[in-house]
Amino acid sequence: MKKIIAILAVMALVIACFAACGGKTEPKATNSDADTTAEIVENPAPTGDTLVMGTNAAFPPYEFVAEDGSYAGIDVEIATAVAEKLGKTVEVKDMEFDSLIPAVAGGSIDFVMAGLTVTDERKETVDFSDTYATGVQVIIVKEDSDIASADDLEGKKIGVQAGTTGDIYVTDDYGQENVSQFNNGSLAVQALVNGQVDCVVIDNEPAKNFVAANEGLKILATEYITEDYAAAFAKENTELHDQFNAALAELIADGTVQSIIDKYITAE
Ligand code: ARG
Repeated sequence: MKKIIAILAVMALVIACFAACGGKTEPKATNSDADTTAEIVENPAPTGDTLVMGTNAAFPPYEFVAEDGSYAGIDVEIATAVAEKLGKTVEVKDMEFDSLIPAVAGGSIDFVMAGLTVTDERKETVDFSDTYATGVQVIIVKEDSDIASADDLEGKKIGVQAGTTGDIYVTDDYGQENVSQFNNGSLAVQALVNGQVDCVVIDNEPAKNFVAANEGLKILATEYITEDYAAAFAKENTELHDQFNAALAELIADGTVQSIIDKYITAE
């Protein structure tokens, strides 16, 4: 009898472990403040029916953690629609923006969708899908700021999200000593609210979200730089790259992409 109880106990443990380990991993409620790089390195390379999408989920409306703790946003929904066409599902990995390109190039994630701008420099490391959206780098300031356009940024403290195109442009234009890097856009905006920086340079749609969420901020009417967003793949992964582009083209043609964008961005 004792033996049977012992066997049953072991079986129960095994089942419990399977349930815990095999279940769908819920996203963490926290955003990219946590260092998820170590976790990613330890994970085996993705295979099979799941496509692992690396992103930095503090970038609404493209990617963010919804109130119920799930990942939401334009990129998440487009990726899900693409994966569905390929008969796969998407698993979102929330990482530091900075580590996304090395991660996809190294094969620990399948692709990046992160409001990621196509640049020649990034093209040296990864391949980009066709473009699915346009972004504009804008300048956020306090309502009473004396900064009225990019011409006034000389010698000002500029907050950016580390490794983004905004970071790269202002570092080039105004010098590294004037640029403060933050791990994500909302931290940069918090620094502006607290007076640690004089402005934040960031993509326009996230900028609108951050300004709506914080009192006393505004976006300058002058646009800084316009750019294209695309998904990124490891250069060797031409198979996924081609499949992704084919699915994306269909989703653009049948209006799915536009309807996803319209769901999150209301036209002015
Ligand atoms: N478009 C900019 C870039 O590619 C910023 C993207 C930031 N994305 C994010 N998910 N945090 O550099």
